[in-house]
Amino acid sequence: FVGYYDGEFVELGARSVPIEERGHQFGDGVYEVVRVYGGRPFLLDWHLERMENSLKAIAIENPFDREGWIQLIGEAIRRSGEAEATVYWQVTRGIAPRNHVFPSAKSVVSLTVRPLAVSGSSAHEAHTAVGEPGPAQTADTAPQASLPPLIALPDERWANAYVKSINLLPNVIAKEIAHRYHAQEAMLVKNGSITECSGSNVWFVRGGELWTAPTNRFILPGITRRFVRQLAKDAGVPVHEEALHLDELQDVEEVFVTSTTQEIQLIGSIVTPVDKETALYNLPADLPSSLVSIGE
Ligand code: PDD
Repeated sequence: FVGYYDGEFVELGARSVPIEERGHQFGDGVYEVVRVYGGRPFLLDWHLERMENSLKAIAIENPFDREGWIQLIGEAIRRSGEAEATVYWQVTRGIAPRNHVFPSAKSVVSLTVRPLAVSGSSAHEAHTAVGEPGPAQTADTAPQASLPPLIALPDERWANAYVKSINLLPNVIAKEIAHRYHAQEAMLVKNGSITECSGSNVWFVRGGELWTAPTNRFILPGITRRFVRQLAKDAGVPVHEEALHLDELQDVEEVFVTSTTQEIQLIGSIVTPVDKETALYNLPADLPSSLVSIGE
Protein backbone atom coordinates (compact mmCIF):
# COMPACT_ATOMS: atom_id res chain seq x y z
CA PHE A 1 0.00 0.00 0.00
CA VAL A 2 1.32 3.40 -0.90
CA GLY A 3 -0.22 6.79 -0.17
CA TYR A 4 0.73 10.23 -1.47
CA TYR A 5 -0.66 13.60 -0.46
CA ASP A 6 0.30 17.06 -1.72
CA GLY A 7 3.88 16.35 -2.64
CA GLU A 8 4.80 13.65 -0.12
CA PHE A 9 4.54 9.91 0.16
CA VAL A 10 2.62 9.09 3.36
CA GLU A 11 1.28 6.10 5.27
CA LEU A 12 -2.03 5.12 3.74
CA GLY A 13 -3.80 5.49 7.10
CA ALA A 14 -2.11 8.81 7.94
CA ARG A 15 -4.29 11.81 8.78
CA SER A 16 -3.07 14.11 6.09
CA VAL A 17 -6.03 15.98 4.59
CA PRO A 18 -6.55 19.47 6.06
CA ILE A 19 -10.16 20.17 7.06
CA GLU A 20 -10.43 22.97 4.55
CA GLU A 21 -9.45 20.92 1.54
CA ARG A 22 -11.94 21.49 -1.26
CA GLY A 23 -12.06 17.85 -2.27
CA HIS A 24 -13.03 17.02 1.27
CA GLN A 25 -15.54 19.87 1.74
CA PHE A 26 -17.06 20.31 -1.72
CA GLY A 27 -16.11 17.24 -3.72
CA ASP A 28 -14.36 19.85 -5.86
CA GLY A 29 -11.99 17.71 -7.87
CA VAL A 30 -11.47 14.99 -10.45
CA TYR A 31 -9.98 11.52 -10.28
CA GLU A 32 -8.66 8.57 -12.24
CA VAL A 33 -8.25 4.85 -11.59
CA VAL A 34 -5.59 2.92 -13.50
CA ARG A 35 -4.92 -0.82 -13.42
CA VAL A 36 -1.38 -2.05 -13.02
CA TYR A 37 -0.60 -5.30 -14.83
CA GLY A 38 2.83 -6.85 -14.38
CA GLY A 39 4.08 -3.70 -12.65
CA ARG A 40 3.04 -1.43 -15.52
CA PRO A 41 0.13 1.01 -15.61
CA PHE A 42 -2.28 0.00 -18.40
CA LEU A 43 -3.33 2.66 -20.95
CA LEU A 44 -1.87 5.41 -18.78
CA ASP A 45 -1.69 7.92 -21.64
CA TRP A 46 -5.44 7.62 -22.25
CA HIS A 47 -6.15 8.11 -18.55
CA LEU A 48 -3.91 11.19 -18.45
CA GLU A 49 -5.64 12.60 -21.53
CA ARG A 50 -9.06 12.09 -19.91
CA MET A 51 -7.85 13.67 -16.66
CA GLU A 52 -6.62 16.71 -18.59
CA ASN A 53 -10.09 17.03 -20.15
CA SER A 54 -11.79 16.71 -16.75
CA LEU A 55 -9.51 19.33 -15.19
CA LYS A 56 -10.03 21.73 -18.09
CA ALA A 57 -13.82 21.25 -17.92
CA ILE A 58 -14.00 22.50 -14.34
CA ALA A 59 -11.03 24.89 -14.51
CA ILE A 60 -8.70 23.19 -12.06
CA GLU A 61 -5.04 23.82 -12.71
CA ASN A 62 -3.10 20.72 -13.74
CA PRO A 63 -0.18 20.56 -11.28
CA PHE A 64 2.05 18.39 -13.52
CA ASP A 65 2.79 17.93 -17.18
CA ARG A 66 2.48 14.47 -18.79
CA GLU A 67 6.05 13.56 -17.91
CA GLY A 68 5.53 14.68 -14.30
CA TRP A 69 2.45 12.45 -13.99
CA ILE A 70 4.21 9.48 -15.55
CA GLN A 71 7.09 9.91 -13.09
CA LEU A 72 4.86 10.28 -10.02
CA ILE A 73 2.71 7.27 -10.90
CA GLY A 74 5.76 5.19 -11.80
CA GLU A 75 7.46 6.10 -8.51
CA ALA A 76 4.34 5.20 -6.52
CA ILE A 77 4.03 1.82 -8.25
CA ARG A 78 7.74 1.18 -7.68
CA ARG A 79 7.46 2.01 -3.97
CA SER A 80 4.46 -0.30 -3.62
CA GLY A 81 6.40 -3.21 -5.08
CA GLU A 82 3.10 -4.49 -6.47
CA ALA A 83 2.73 -6.12 -9.86
CA GLU A 84 -1.10 -6.35 -9.85
CA ALA A 85 -2.63 -3.23 -8.38
CA THR A 86 -4.86 -0.23 -8.89
CA VAL A 87 -3.59 3.33 -8.75
CA TYR A 88 -6.19 5.90 -7.67
CA TRP A 89 -5.48 9.61 -7.76
CA GLN A 90 -7.43 12.79 -7.46
CA VAL A 91 -6.71 16.45 -8.11
CA THR A 92 -8.70 18.94 -6.08
CA ARG A 93 -8.98 22.71 -6.18
CA GLY A 94 -6.76 22.95 -3.12
CA ILE A 95 -6.82 24.15 0.46
CA ALA A 96 -8.57 27.43 1.33
CA PRO A 97 -11.14 28.83 3.79
CA ARG A 98 -14.55 27.42 2.89
CA ASN A 99 -16.21 29.55 0.23
CA HIS A 100 -17.97 28.27 -2.87
CA VAL A 101 -16.14 30.77 -5.10
CA PHE A 102 -12.86 29.41 -6.52
CA PRO A 103 -9.89 30.26 -4.30
CA SER A 104 -6.48 31.19 -5.59
CA ALA A 105 -5.06 28.06 -4.00
CA LYS A 106 -2.87 25.56 -5.78
CA SER A 107 -4.43 22.24 -6.70
CA VAL A 108 -3.68 19.22 -4.54
CA VAL A 109 -2.96 15.66 -5.65
CA SER A 110 -3.63 12.58 -3.54
CA LEU A 111 -2.81 9.11 -4.74
CA THR A 112 -2.96 5.53 -3.54
CA VAL A 113 -1.57 2.28 -4.85
CA ARG A 114 -3.43 -0.77 -3.62
CA PRO A 115 -2.76 -4.39 -4.40
CA LEU A 116 -5.60 -5.84 -6.39
CA ALA A 117 -8.32 -7.52 -4.37
CA VAL A 118 -9.04 -10.41 -6.70
CA SER A 119 -12.73 -11.09 -6.26
CA GLY A 120 -14.06 -14.36 -7.58
CA SER A 121 -13.63 -15.10 -11.23
CA SER A 122 -13.91 -11.82 -13.03
CA ALA A 123 -10.48 -10.28 -12.62
CA HIS A 124 -8.32 -12.94 -14.15
CA GLU A 125 -10.81 -14.16 -16.71
CA ALA A 126 -11.80 -10.72 -17.90
CA HIS A 127 -8.17 -9.74 -18.09
CA THR A 128 -7.60 -12.58 -20.50
CA ALA A 129 -10.57 -11.26 -22.42
CA VAL A 130 -8.81 -7.95 -23.03
CA GLY A 131 -5.92 -9.33 -24.95
CA GLU A 132 -3.81 -11.61 -22.77
CA PRO A 133 -3.31 -15.25 -23.66
CA GLY A 134 -5.46 -17.72 -21.80
CA PRO A 135 -9.06 -18.83 -21.61
CA ALA A 136 -11.32 -15.82 -22.02
CA GLN A 137 -14.66 -15.84 -20.26
CA THR A 138 -17.14 -16.20 -23.07
CA ALA A 139 -20.72 -17.25 -23.39
CA ASP A 140 -19.43 -20.70 -24.30
CA THR A 141 -17.38 -21.24 -21.16
CA ALA A 142 -19.60 -19.42 -18.65
CA PRO A 143 -23.23 -20.46 -18.48
CA GLN A 144 -25.54 -17.43 -18.59
CA ALA A 145 -27.29 -18.59 -15.43
CA SER A 146 -24.18 -18.04 -13.32
CA LEU A 147 -23.58 -14.52 -14.61
CA PRO A 148 -24.47 -11.55 -12.43
CA PRO A 149 -27.49 -9.33 -13.15
CA LEU A 150 -27.71 -5.58 -13.67
CA ILE A 151 -30.44 -3.54 -12.04
CA ALA A 152 -31.93 -0.67 -14.05
CA LEU A 153 -32.23 2.56 -12.04
CA PRO A 154 -32.86 6.21 -12.93
CA ASP A 155 -29.75 8.17 -13.92
CA GLU A 156 -29.88 10.97 -11.38
CA ARG A 157 -26.43 12.40 -11.99
CA TRP A 158 -25.68 15.91 -13.16
CA ALA A 159 -25.55 16.66 -16.90
CA ASN A 160 -21.74 16.57 -17.09
CA ALA A 161 -21.06 12.92 -16.41
CA TYR A 162 -18.17 13.07 -18.91
CA VAL A 163 -16.19 14.87 -16.18
CA LYS A 164 -14.68 12.24 -13.89
CA SER A 165 -15.62 14.22 -10.83
CA ILE A 166 -15.06 13.00 -7.27
CA ASN A 167 -18.72 13.98 -6.60
CA LEU A 168 -20.04 10.43 -6.70
CA LEU A 169 -23.09 10.44 -4.44
CA PRO A 170 -25.62 9.38 -7.12
CA ASN A 171 -23.20 6.67 -8.28
CA VAL A 172 -22.58 5.51 -4.71
CA ILE A 173 -26.29 5.23 -3.95
CA ALA A 174 -27.07 3.45 -7.22
CA LYS A 175 -24.21 1.02 -6.63
CA GLU A 176 -25.36 0.37 -3.06
CA ILE A 177 -28.84 -0.50 -4.31
CA ALA A 178 -27.27 -2.81 -6.92
CA HIS A 179 -25.21 -4.42 -4.16
CA ARG A 180 -28.26 -4.97 -1.95
CA TYR A 181 -30.02 -6.68 -4.84
CA HIS A 182 -26.95 -8.79 -5.64
CA ALA A 183 -26.51 -7.07 -8.97
CA GLN A 184 -23.11 -6.43 -10.55
CA GLU A 185 -23.98 -2.83 -11.30
CA ALA A 186 -26.77 -0.28 -11.46
CA MET A 187 -27.59 0.31 -15.13
CA LEU A 188 -28.56 3.96 -15.38
CA VAL A 189 -31.52 5.08 -17.49
CA LYS A 190 -32.13 8.66 -18.61
CA ASN A 191 -35.45 9.43 -20.36
CA GLY A 192 -35.83 5.74 -21.17
CA SER A 193 -32.35 5.45 -22.72
CA ILE A 194 -29.51 3.49 -21.17
CA THR A 195 -26.51 5.73 -20.52
CA GLU A 196 -23.96 3.62 -18.60
CA CYS A 197 -23.59 1.96 -15.19
CA SER A 198 -22.77 3.39 -11.78
CA GLY A 199 -19.07 2.57 -12.27
CA SER A 200 -18.72 1.14 -15.77
CA ASN A 201 -19.87 1.43 -19.37
CA VAL A 202 -22.45 -1.02 -20.68
CA TRP A 203 -22.47 -2.84 -24.02
CA PHE A 204 -25.11 -4.86 -25.86
CA VAL A 205 -24.74 -7.48 -28.58
CA ARG A 206 -27.46 -7.67 -31.22
CA GLY A 207 -27.07 -9.66 -34.41
CA GLY A 208 -23.38 -10.11 -33.62
CA GLU A 209 -22.83 -6.32 -33.55
CA LEU A 210 -22.09 -4.07 -30.60
CA TRP A 211 -24.12 -1.19 -29.16
CA THR A 212 -22.97 1.26 -26.51
CA ALA A 213 -24.07 4.80 -25.65
CA PRO A 214 -22.34 7.61 -27.57
CA THR A 215 -19.59 9.69 -25.94
CA ASN A 216 -21.53 12.82 -25.18
CA ARG A 217 -21.72 14.80 -21.95
CA PHE A 218 -24.03 12.21 -20.32
CA ILE A 219 -21.52 9.37 -19.99
CA LEU A 220 -17.98 8.94 -18.80
CA PRO A 221 -15.81 8.10 -21.81
CA GLY A 222 -14.40 4.91 -20.34
CA ILE A 223 -10.84 3.96 -21.11
CA THR A 224 -11.81 0.28 -21.19
CA ARG A 225 -14.70 1.26 -23.51
CA ARG A 226 -12.21 2.97 -25.81
CA PHE A 227 -9.96 -0.11 -25.72
CA VAL A 228 -12.84 -2.52 -26.42
CA ARG A 229 -14.07 -0.31 -29.26
CA GLN A 230 -10.59 -0.52 -30.80
CA LEU A 231 -10.46 -4.32 -30.33
CA ALA A 232 -13.88 -4.63 -31.98
CA LYS A 233 -12.86 -2.44 -34.91
CA ASP A 234 -9.64 -4.45 -35.34
CA ALA A 235 -11.73 -7.64 -35.32
CA GLY A 236 -14.18 -6.22 -37.87
CA VAL A 237 -17.10 -6.20 -35.42
CA PRO A 238 -19.36 -3.19 -36.09
CA VAL A 239 -19.78 -0.84 -33.11
CA HIS A 240 -22.89 1.34 -32.98
CA GLU A 241 -22.43 4.26 -30.62
CA GLU A 242 -26.14 4.67 -29.97
CA ALA A 243 -27.98 4.46 -26.68
CA LEU A 244 -30.48 1.59 -26.44
CA HIS A 245 -33.92 2.21 -25.01
CA LEU A 246 -35.07 0.05 -22.10
CA ASP A 247 -37.76 -1.35 -24.44
CA GLU A 248 -35.08 -2.67 -26.81
CA LEU A 249 -33.60 -5.19 -24.39
CA GLN A 250 -35.78 -8.08 -25.55
CA ASP A 251 -33.70 -8.89 -28.63
CA VAL A 252 -30.32 -8.40 -26.98
CA GLU A 253 -28.09 -11.49 -27.18
CA GLU A 254 -25.33 -10.57 -24.75
CA VAL A 255 -24.58 -7.78 -22.31
CA PHE A 256 -21.28 -6.84 -20.73
CA VAL A 257 -19.91 -3.97 -18.70
CA THR A 258 -16.41 -2.51 -18.98
CA SER A 259 -14.27 -0.64 -16.49
CA THR A 260 -10.71 -0.44 -15.29
CA THR A 261 -11.49 -2.53 -12.20
CA GLN A 262 -14.27 -4.80 -13.54
CA GLU A 263 -12.46 -5.22 -16.87
CA ILE A 264 -14.93 -7.02 -19.18
CA GLN A 265 -17.74 -8.56 -17.15
CA LEU A 266 -20.48 -10.55 -18.84
CA ILE A 267 -24.02 -10.04 -17.52
CA GLY A 268 -26.74 -12.69 -17.29
CA SER A 269 -29.92 -10.67 -16.81
CA ILE A 270 -31.30 -7.19 -16.25
CA VAL A 271 -33.70 -6.49 -13.43
CA THR A 272 -36.07 -3.61 -14.06
CA PRO A 273 -37.76 -2.37 -10.90
CA VAL A 274 -41.45 -1.81 -11.51
CA ASP A 275 -41.58 1.02 -9.00
CA LYS A 276 -38.41 2.96 -9.64
CA GLU A 277 -39.20 5.72 -7.17
CA THR A 278 -39.61 3.33 -4.27
CA ALA A 279 -36.56 1.44 -5.36
CA LEU A 280 -34.35 4.44 -5.04
CA TYR A 281 -34.24 5.74 -1.54
CA ASN A 282 -36.44 3.49 0.56
CA LEU A 283 -34.60 0.35 -0.36
CA PRO A 284 -37.36 -2.20 0.25
CA ALA A 285 -36.14 -5.73 0.77
CA ASP A 286 -38.72 -7.09 -1.67
CA LEU A 287 -38.35 -4.82 -4.64
CA PRO A 288 -41.07 -5.68 -7.17
CA SER A 289 -39.30 -6.27 -10.42
CA SER A 290 -39.41 -7.83 -13.83
CA LEU A 291 -36.48 -9.73 -15.25
CA VAL A 292 -35.07 -9.67 -18.76
CA SER A 293 -32.83 -12.67 -19.31
CA ILE A 294 -30.16 -12.11 -21.87
CA GLY A 295 -29.84 -14.34 -24.89
CA GLU A 296 -32.89 -16.52 -24.38
N1 PDD B 1 -15.06 3.83 -12.64
N2 PDD B 1 -18.59 4.98 -16.09
C1 PDD B 1 -18.46 5.37 -14.82
C2 PDD B 1 -19.56 6.16 -14.20
C3 PDD B 1 -17.30 5.04 -14.09
O1 PDD B 1 -17.16 5.45 -12.83
C4 PDD B 1 -16.29 4.27 -14.72
C5 PDD B 1 -15.01 3.87 -14.02
C6 PDD B 1 -16.48 3.87 -16.06
C7 PDD B 1 -15.46 3.07 -16.81
O2 PDD B 1 -14.32 3.84 -17.09
P1 PDD B 1 -12.89 3.18 -17.24
O3 PDD B 1 -13.01 2.10 -18.29
O4 PDD B 1 -12.03 4.30 -17.69
O5 PDD B 1 -12.51 2.65 -15.92
C8 PDD B 1 -17.64 4.26 -16.71
C9 PDD B 1 -13.83 3.69 -11.90
C10 PDD B 1 -13.07 2.45 -12.21
C11 PDD B 1 -14.10 3.88 -10.43
O6 PDD B 1 -14.87 4.77 -10.12
O7 PDD B 1 -13.54 3.17 -9.60
